[in-house]
Amino acid sequence: MSREPLKMQDATLPEFSSQEQPQASPEFAIRGARLSDAAAIQSIIETYARQRLMLPRSLMQIYENVRDYWVALDDGKVVGVGALHCFWEDLVELRALAVAPAYKDLGLGREIVLRLIEEARAMGASKVFAFTYIPQFFSKFGFEQVPHHSLPLKVWKDCINCSYFNNCNEIAMIKRL
Ligand SMILES: CC(C)(COP(=O)(O)OP(=O)(O)OC[C@H]1O[C@@H](n2cnc3c(N)ncnc32)[C@H](O)[C@@H]1OP(=O)(O)O)[C@@H](O)C(=O)NCCC(=O)NCCS
Repeated sequence: MSREPLKMQDATLPEFSSQEQPQASPEFAIRGARLSDAAAIQSIIETYARQRLMLPRSLMQIYENVRDYWVALDDGKVVGVGALHCFWEDLVELRALAVAPAYKDLGLGREIVLRLIEEARAMGASKVFAFTYIPQFFSKFGFEQVPHHSLPLKVWKDCINCSYFNNCNEIAMIKRL
């Protein structure tokens, strides 16, 4: 597998196969998701949901929120995903972050996070938060751990409907922009 630095480019379409290996010199692009990306997005998330590393997303949830999602493409195939969900006038959540298994450790996760932070700033947010099992990853981008109860909008909107409510090991992290 290549460990060459990422080269970013403008984007076009997808069809994802988790079996495929990256090319020797991958060129990735990141763009806002399209409706036709939904199945590929779900496939990547499901890979990690089965390992309980992420919450699963139904296709309906993805279609309904497709404007939240960003995708990373390798030669037109969706190989990474991340989303920004708006909570309040100054607050957005970075969520649904995942890179297809064959594309991990190439710097793609970093590129998606940096792009989402840039987008959060562009839309006028002053705080971006994430709920995660990998705080070490998010701390690389300036996120700091906070108590769940410091994000009551998240708790009352999403957590109370989650099967892991009151039994949640996710760590809440926030970055001020
Ligand atoms: C987390 C994930 C998105 C990272 O993507 P990636 O492309 O593999 O990561 P990158 O290559 O961009 O790594 C960037 C940095 O983060 C570090 N990193 C990568 N995965 C990490 C992890 N699981 N825990 C801690 N640090 C991690 C890398 O070592 C690298 O560090 P460096 O800058 O000091 O060299 C990817 O591993 C993934 O999809 N994981 C499964 C799903 C998941 O857990 N999503 C997070 C939900 S909140």
